[in-house]
Amino acid sequence: MEKKSNTSYGDAEFSDFLKMAFRRHLGHDEADYEKPVIGIANTFSEVNRCHSHIQPMVETIKQGVIAGGGTPLEFPIMSLGEMFTSPTTMMYRNLVAMDTEEMITAQPIDGVVLIGGCDKMAPAQLMGAASANKPSILFSGGPMNNGEYKGRTLGACSDCRYFWQEYKAGTVSETEIKEINKELAPTAGHCMVMGSASTIASCSEALGMMLPGGAAIPATVNERMHMARETGKQIVRLVNQRIKPSDIMTKKSFENAIRLLMAIGGSTNSVIHLTAIAKRVGIKIDLDLFEIISEETPFIANMRPAGEYQMQDLYHAGGIPVVLKELESLLHLDELTVTGKTIGENLNNIKIEEVYRDIVRTINNPLHKDGGITVLKGNISPNGSIIKPKAVIDKKLLKHKGKAVVFKSIEDMEKRINSEALEVDKDSVLVLQNAGPVGAPGMPEAGMIPIPQKLLKQGVRDMVRISDCRMSGTAFGTVVLHISPESAIGGPLGLVKDGDLIELDVKNRILNVDISEDELKERQIGWKAPEFEDRGYYWMYRKHVLQADEGCDFDFMLPDFKDKSIL
Ligand code: FES
Repeated sequence: MEKKSNTSYGDAEFSDFLKMAFRRHLGHDEADYEKPVIGIANTFSEVNRCHSHIQPMVETIKQGVIAGGGTPLEFPIMSLGEMFTSPTTMMYRNLVAMDTEEMITAQPIDGVVLIGGCDKMAPAQLMGAASANKPSILFSGGPMNNGEYKGRTLGACSDCRYFWQEYKAGTVSETEIKEINKELAPTAGHCMVMGSASTIASCSEALGMMLPGGAAIPATVNERMHMARETGKQIVRLVNQRIKPSDIMTKKSFENAIRLLMAIGGSTNSVIHLTAIAKRVGIKIDLDLFEIISEETPFIANMRPAGEYQMQDLYHAGGIPVVLKELESLLHLDELTVTGKTIGENLNNIKIEEVYRDIVRTINNPLHKDGGITVLKGNISPNGSIIKPKAVIDKKLLKHKGKAVVFKSIEDMEKRINSEALEVDKDSVLVLQNAGPVGAPGMPEAGMIPIPQKLLKQGVRDMVRISDCRMSGTAFGTVVLHISPESAIGGPLGLVKDGDLIELDVKNRILNVDISEDELKERQIGWKAPEFEDRGYYWMYRKHVLQADEGCDFDFMLPDFKDKSIL
């Protein structure tokens, strides 16, 4: 074991002497600190309701650590709940990553169990663990059980959006929407469709940072407590074997994670998160890699919002291990995982029961022959943007030309979107500017721009929408996101005006505005950067956040922040 870090008093022996005096009240004796000391980064929070149930799991992880021959020490980490954080949790993902890294590094622990769940927590913790590089395992609080309303399965938050849209269209009554609201988040756990939380947990299994099966077990099922105990035991073994995140998170393991992302039709947010985590270990992955892997990966997991099932169903089918088993011929099988074995070894003996075949298809009989996320380029997004074509409602819109209806900001959009005076029809392209990492700031999940109410009432349910912000992994529609560079730093999206003709051609990977290069240059000359009056964290965030295609980490958190080649 490596020497544990110590508070500095200029006398290392005195530091040990003091440490012993101050930890006696925990019931520990000196021998306990000669064992592997395992930090448990507890993210319990009642404000983050997706983590409000995890305390018994933390206790069980501790039991596992003790059973494995280690000493557990629980400590708090910032906790972000999607529905309860303003302006958006993405604004604080990097802060959680810094908190995680510094606490792992500063404290006298040999390894750590990180507790993920709600969307930004697992990515942030993996970023922190990658930089701290002490043995680490990610554990998830698990997804909610399925909701149900009048015999129909409900999922947070795809159905939150679907029924809200119908309520606005007038097809769902006030009484019904209140009843539905009670069933949208029916149990403890994180959102149970293949949104960002489920996606990043699933990708963590493929990356090798979570024990096999850890992503899909519902929060309420006893098996999750068993997984907690196993995680506690396994982190002690990892410390003894000196297996660190840098041994596990390799270029090839990121390719495995991206492969899985495409096969499950996972969240667009994961593109940003995987890029950021990889950069923390000095690995450059870019949008072109996502595009290549998407083109060659069949979409086999029939999961909402792009498919029909939810995490509870996937759990019964065998979870992410059965998806990986189907993808076996496309994976790098020699990559090490937190089991201490390779991902290929973990997949020995994994088998899906045929009764679940509609949930996880074979690669020869996929739902779609290519993956769930497509990268677009063109004169509006020179550095790329993304779309989830399988979550598009009106497939005709995958190739579309329409006139831009431009909103200058999220506030502008909220103010005008339902105005009777708004000149918009079903063929318009809704354009949202200044909602990116710097502009908003924090790139909120406002990309699924609401369909104007007057069009909803005419029966319109999908339109082309483009922006430099994100959308929830649970959202759907013909929504182009993460346009980069963003409008607030001078990206061409900010130069689009009402009435400009926008061309979307997903098959040919094109997103263009039909104006000449000269006209674009002229508009650029007249463009003024927005001014911000920030202090504190907001000031630091806007000054240092990277663009969406670069992972939205802070530039100074990269392994060598002077080396721009990783961007
Ligand atoms: Fe936490 Fe959806 S609100 S995962």
